[in-house]
Parts: sequence; structure tokens; C-alpha cells
Amino acid sequence: MDNPFSFGRIAKKNRFCDRENEIKRLKEYLRASSNIWLYSPRRFGKTSLVKKLLEEVETEKTFVVYVDLYEAEDEKEFNRIFAKALYSGLHKNKPLTEKLFASARNLFQYIVPQISVDASGKPVFQIGVSDNIPEDLLLGDILDSIKKHSKKRKSKGVIVFDEFQQIGEFDNSGKIEKILRKYIQDHNNISYIFLGSKQRLMSSFFEDSNRPFYKSALHFPIDKIPKSFLLKHLMKLFKKSGKPVDKNLIEGILDQTECHPFFTEKLSFFCWIKHDEYKGDVELFIESVLNEITATEESNYKNLMSVLTKYQKKSLIAIAKAQGEEDIFTSKFVRKHQLPSLTQFRKTVVSLQEKELIFAEDNSLKLNDIFMEMWLKSRFN
Ligand SMILES: Nc1ncnc2c1ncn2[C@@H]1O[C@H](COP(=O)(O)OP(=O)(O)OP(=O)(O)O)[C@@H](O)[C@H]1O
Ligand SMILES: [Mg+2]
Repeated sequence: MDNPFSFGRIAKKNRFCDRENEIKRLKEYLRASSNIWLYSPRRFGKTSLVKKLLEEVETEKTFVVYVDLYEAEDEKEFNRIFAKALYSGLHKNKPLTEKLFASARNLFQYIVPQISVDASGKPVFQIGVSDNIPEDLLLGDILDSIKKHSKKRKSKGVIVFDEFQQIGEFDNSGKIEKILRKYIQDHNNISYIFLGSKQRLMSSFFEDSNRPFYKSALHFPIDKIPKSFLLKHLMKLFKKSGKPVDKNLIEGILDQTECHPFFTEKLSFFCWIKHDEYKGDVELFIESVLNEITATEESNYKNLMSVLTKYQKKSLIAIAKAQGEEDIFTSKFVRKHQLPSLTQFRKTVVSLQEKELIFAEDNSLKLNDIFMEMWLKSRFN
């Protein structure tokens, strides 16, 4: 049978665990057409959660649009990615026909959808733009079309911007933020959901009184998945895939991953592969699986370390060793780990957070990659 665990992909169907409370609350917010900014550290399950939410709320009377900004490098790409996602979202399941062109013309003023053929002969949809149209007019056109569509269909809408923090990379003057705000505040029947994993950037968008989006969206941080749900979920997946395990092993997995969705999937994936070697000794078995994971990842960890400055490296190792327990912003900690000074250490921590190597949780700092944390501790003990 196939391995039921897959890490790095959107969790769907029977692979999707829990998030019932989150979905319930988010639906209430959507019913009120509120805007939401949803933050969590990397790989906690934002995209999986929101995709499931969209699936559940999409009806004849509610259209949904998912915009992935991961690849948006500048304003021009932002507009094209947005327009394409919007167009696709509003015309799901429709064939590429004349009719579709006609409705696109009704939808946008300056955007012309184009169809070309890829190398395999498959038709691909692209966004064309009327000549010499400035990018800010174009963004206005896209945002206007959302309102037009909602009015014409008498429907509500949900627009998701995934990796929203990406606009911080190129919108230095805040131009896009200003345009978005101008239109969005007039979109009464539409909810906008902004997802991101860079804590400081995301909160500065929505909590900084000098920024256009100040207090304009509800904050919705998501946490890891509760242990009781993961326990049942994993037991079921192991059993259904023909490799049943005892509760002790699942507890052992969750102790290691602290219920982090991504690392739980990853450790379970390798436990499933090595299932034949499990003879009831949880500690021994998990240790051997973890050794295998860290051995395969070692070159990645070394690469990551090689681009860090000397103090970043030292600080990362110190944080890994602290295991999120000690009070680390003290002179004692700085002396113990031979870091330059408390002020310098604070600055280094910010730079490591920006690189998404660490994140703050319950007043302590954790490494984003649990397996890298294990590797650092064993390597530099
Ligand atoms: N509800 C869930 N049930 C089971 N597994 C999950 C769930 N949510 C997330 N995962 C696991 O975690 C991984 C990361 O999920 P996802 O990509 O949704 O997180 P993310 O927060 O959007 O990550 P990023 O910050 O990198 O965008 C998935 O590939 C899956 O293995
Ligand atoms: Mg994501």
C-alpha cells in the first residue's frame, strides 16, 4: 500500500487533520464579510487550512479566489498573478471558449485573456494587458472587477492572498498597499484573507498605525494541531495503510515533533517506511528513524549554516541548545554561549527570525526546523 503520509504538499481529504474550531470561527468571520490576517510560523498548515475553508464556503452565492503571491517579484507580476487567479477563480470548470472571452471582457477594462499552446499542445491561459496602461490603473481595474462581479451575481466573495508578506519585498513605497486599501474598504460583500509566516512583516502591515491596513483586518493566528486529534489521525492512517502501530509509538512521534503538523507528517512518513524494524521499543526505533532523517538532511543543514555570519551561527546553536526553555535574553545566557553582547544577540535574533530559521513561541525561541535543532544539538554538544 502507499505511504499515507506526505509532507510538503497541501493536506487534503483524509490526510487533513482537525482544524474544526479554526474553520468554524473563520466561517463566522466570512459570514460577516470581515477581512482576516492569518499568521503562523512556516509549515504550521495555513495554506492547507485556508484551501479547505475555501472548498467548504464556495457555493453559487459565494465565489472564492486563491492568489499565491510566492512568485511575485514586482508590481507587474503581482498584478498578473492576481488577475490570472481572479479570472481562473471566477471561471472554474468552464472550458476555454468564446463565451469565456466575452465574460472576461465584461469583467475587466484593460485586461485581455489570451490562450496559447504549450510544448505538449495543451492550451494555456495567460493575461494580456492593453498597451501603455500604468500598473496602478491595472490594479484598480482588477479590484473593481471583483466588486462588479459580486454585484452582478449578487454574491459574496472570499479572496485569499497567500504569502502576502511577499509584497513587502518590492512595494517599498507602500503604493500597492494604498491601492488595495482604497478599493477593499469599499468591498462590503467581500472578505480578504491575508496569509503569511513572517511575524514582524505581517504584524507591521496590520498593526502599525502608519500603514494603510492598520486595524483593517481581524488577527487570526493559528497554532499547532492538538495532540488528541493528531493521535487519532495518525493511528487511523497507519492502520488503514496496512501498517498498524501501538499508541506508544504515536505518542513517541508527537513527543519529538511537539505536534508540529509538517514535522509530524515527515517523521510519520519515515516511521511508516521503516515499520518492519519496529519491535515495540519506541525510543530505539524513533532514534534510528531520526538519525536517518538528519543524516539525509545534513548537507542541507550545512549549506544553511554556511551562509550565516559567525554570530548568527553561534546564536542559532545556543537557541537550539536552550530548547525553548531557558530565559535567553540574559547576560548569563550570553556569557554561557560566548556571544558578543546582549544587544548584539537581540539584533542577531531578529535577523534569524527574518530568515525564518527561528520563531517566537510562548515567550521563548524555537528553531523552525525541529530536525535541524536535533542535528545542531548533537553536533555541537
Ligand atoms: N490539517 C493538517 N492535517 C495534516 N497535515 C497537515 C495539516 N496542516 C498541515 N499539515 C502538514 O504540514 C505541511 C505544511 O502545511 P501547509 O503548506 O499548509 O503549511 P503553511 O503554514 O502554509 O506553510 P508555509 O509557511 O511554508 O506556507 C503539509 O504538507 C502537511 O504535511
Ligand atoms: Mg503556505
